Amino acid sequence: MTRWKIVAGAAAVLLFIAGCSAFALVWRPTIAAVASPSPASFQPDLIRRGRELAAIGNCNTCHTAREGRDFAGGLPVSTPFGTIFSTNISPDPDSGIGGWSEAAFRRAMRAGVDRDGHHLYPTFPYDHFTSISDEDDHALYAFLMTREPARAPARANELSFPYDQRWLIAGWKLLFFRPGTYRPEPGKSVEWNHGAYLVEGLAHCGACHTPRNALGAERTGASFSGGEVDNWQAYAINTRSPAPVHWDREALISYLRQGWHADHGTARGPMAEVVRNLSSVPASDVADIATYMADVFGPSPAGQKEPPAIQSFAGPPGDPGAAIYAAACASCHESARPLPYGGVDLARSTAISASDPRNLANIVMSGVQPVAGESSPIMPGFGDSMDDGQIVALLTYLRARFGKGPAWTHVEDIVKQARQTQTAYLQPSLGPQNARADAAQRDKP
Ligand code: HEC
Ligand code: HEC
Ligand code: HEC
Repeated sequence: MTRWKIVAGAAAVLLFIAGCSAFALVWRPTIAAVASPSPASFQPDLIRRGRELAAIGNCNTCHTAREGRDFAGGLPVSTPFGTIFSTNISPDPDSGIGGWSEAAFRRAMRAGVDRDGHHLYPTFPYDHFTSISDEDDHALYAFLMTREPARAPARANELSFPYDQRWLIAGWKLLFFRPGTYRPEPGKSVEWNHGAYLVEGLAHCGACHTPRNALGAERTGASFSGGEVDNWQAYAINTRSPAPVHWDREALISYLRQGWHADHGTARGPMAEVVRNLSSVPASDVADIATYMADVFGPSPAGQKEPPAIQSFAGPPGDPGAAIYAAACASCHESARPLPYGGVDLARSTAISASDPRNLANIVMSGVQPVAGESSPIMPGFGDSMDDGQIVALLTYLRARFGKGPAWTHVEDIVKQARQTQTAYLQPSLGPQNARADAAQRDKP
């Protein structure tokens, strides 16, 4: 045998092995379609727990488009790589997951693979959902399978090459995805462990609050150090929190379940939707989340509890920002009217002590919208009555007067961007006493 033949033979064998391993990595079998299970086959208690779990997991937030049918998908989720549309997870047999067995559903939640064996984009936060218990997946399945089936075929994603190649997700998973169920931390309380299980898994708090790397994976070792979503900053919610007042367990319970706390103000933007969902779940689940998160925030640094009381500070003579604040904001934010109807003393607002003014610009532009049918906090939006220059002057003044940290840079660009991306978000309901579960979440037999 000539030498080149041996080399070519070896190369062919190697190529074959590489091909097989790539195939094994990428290929996932189809799971056969089943007839949609009858809603009557699920116990009401199981469906009710499924509803609560779906609220903790924000399934409705991503899978129900504005004005769209419940869980019918079609919501555009923007990512740095393009727009991905959520899919229909109502039990329609053709366009939804009506034909999915529980095993197929569990594989999607655990491994990010659809019934046909395609890899799913991690915009669907299965990197968190992977740790959900069998029992909880079972309840979620029961809840989804008892919703109203809605016919709504998937919309094509708007991704550029190579991100539109689904098989490449297999490589992403190899690099960044760590499947596995939650392992309780010995030595911690039952409540702490249940909170950790929810926060790290179903509630996927890190999906927004953890910074991501260039390929869109959450950075290891930077959990809860601050991320971004839809042109909002999801602040650091660990020891690096920029909040002027330390977050303790009691404040977290109030903020997460009723949407506000006197020392911290209200939840807005994407967080308002999270809180709105949490207002409809049992108090014990939210209390456990708060127990775990209070530990993540760490103990209060000495002397941080009280921010300085409001001091008179007129700003430099002729400061246009000071004049706008006095005319448009002070009457509500220095009224001493209790929260949530009065505006918080702005020295307590994380928005003003954050590393950039994005959220502040969003709030000033859009205000705080009232919740239909309830008495709720209201702040007018100033996007229409102020031009960019006035808002820039106002933000710069607020930072100097009330903020912690150095003056912000690029304020002009951030204000311009806030104007372009203004989205109206639903505000949370004020607490469980008012909580009406969304129609989408209501129990059915
Ligand atoms: C941050 C947004 C987001 C949240 C929250 C979310 N999903 Fe999704 N989900 C998506 C997107 C986007 C897709 C489509 C991914 C793709 O096309 O690769 C998806 C796909 C799915 C699929 C696969 C459906 C199919 O036809 O392939 C299932 C099942 C699913 N989600 C269930 C859930 C459940 C259950 C919850 C709540 C526990 C949930 N999702 C929460 C964004 C989300
Ligand atoms: C969809 C993205 C998203 C998810 C999921 C999310 N957050 Fe947030 N969160 C935000 C944004 C954005 C803000 C800033 C809101 C604002 O400025 O009012 C925020 C604000 C907060 C704050 C207030 C911090 C401060 O100093 O003002 C806390 C506390 C918080 N989130 C905790 C959580 C917890 C706990 C979870 C999981 C149960 C969670 N978040 C899930 C986006 C998210
Ligand atoms: C009609 C009363 C009213 C006016 C006028 C008003 N606000 Fe508000 N504002 C509120 C209420 C109520 C809230 C919700 C409670 C809270 O979070 O402080 C709020 C919230 C805020 C927040 C979020 C605080 C936090 O972290 O929770 C900021 C920042 C803010 N307002 C800034 C301004 C600025 C700047 C102006 C002037 C351009 C202004 N507001 C004018 C009533 C008002």
